[in-house]
Amino acid sequence: MNLTLLGATGRTGVPLVPDALARGHRLTCLVRDEGKAARLLPSDDRLRLVVGDATDASAVDAAIAGADAVLDASGPVRGGPKRLRAEVVSHVLPAMHRHGVRRLVFLTGAGVRLDGDVPGVADRAIRGLMSLVQRDILDDGQAAVAAITASDLDWTVVRVPRLVDAGGRGRVRTGGRVGDGSGTTLGRRDLARFLLDELEQGTWIRQAPVVSW
Ligand SMILES: NC(=O)c1ccc[n+]([C@@H]2O[C@H](COP(=O)([O-])OP(=O)(O)OC[C@H]3O[C@@H](n4cnc5c(N)ncnc54)[C@H](OP(=O)(O)O)[C@@H]3O)[C@@H](O)[C@H]2O)c1
Repeated sequence: MNLTLLGATGRTGVPLVPDALARGHRLTCLVRDEGKAARLLPSDDRLRLVVGDATDASAVDAAIAGADAVLDASGPVRGGPKRLRAEVVSHVLPAMHRHGVRRLVFLTGAGVRLDGDVPGVADRAIRGLMSLVQRDILDDGQAAVAAITASDLDWTVVRVPRLVDAGGRGRVRTGGRVGDGSGTTLGRRDLARFLLDELEQGTWIRQAPVVSW
């Protein structure tokens, strides 16, 4: 498929890109820094860079034109806008509608809550701590997810705990809601595999699974 990726130069994006190419997909990556992308991403005819900022509606539009699906694995960086994810989503959704793209996979933290969640003691404690030290990130993720879930697109919101760069275990735990017994960490290799499987298979369309080790 033709996949548009936001966050390709991030810690989740970098290991995902070669995996996506190995599965035969074509990638359009919206990147802010062409030199960084050249250093971190493979050189491949099937990988196209659109250089621009995801808070710029026209850059997002150019990256989404011609896509079959969009994966937003971007994330807040030091010095960036407080409400990055919500702002990016406010450009992604209209661009997808304009270009007739229906499939969106959006990566966010397990602290983002949806109706139907049944958080346990540990879930509530972790979220309580996050709301003390990462309130803006939590509110931003929540706002972005509210906009996505209100859309008529074929979205999947993938919620994850703390991400680690350790080698893959080859399997993950997946629950439909917070409180279904998720773990507290997830390796990025296994996350990449889950995200690509989900893009290909659409197992969790219009749902927000919690994925962990
Ligand atoms: N890290 C964790 O433990 C954890 C846990 C739960 C959820 N998450 C969520 O998972 C997602 C990915 O996390 P990560 O750790 O892989 O993120 P990361 O390493 O911080 O990467 C963030 C990516 O977003 C890009 N980005 C930031 N602002 C941008 C902008 N204005 N325009 C275009 N691109 C922009 C960055 O580009 P540059 O390379 O140009 O900076 C980078 O590629 C994030 O949304 C994060 O909140 C992470």
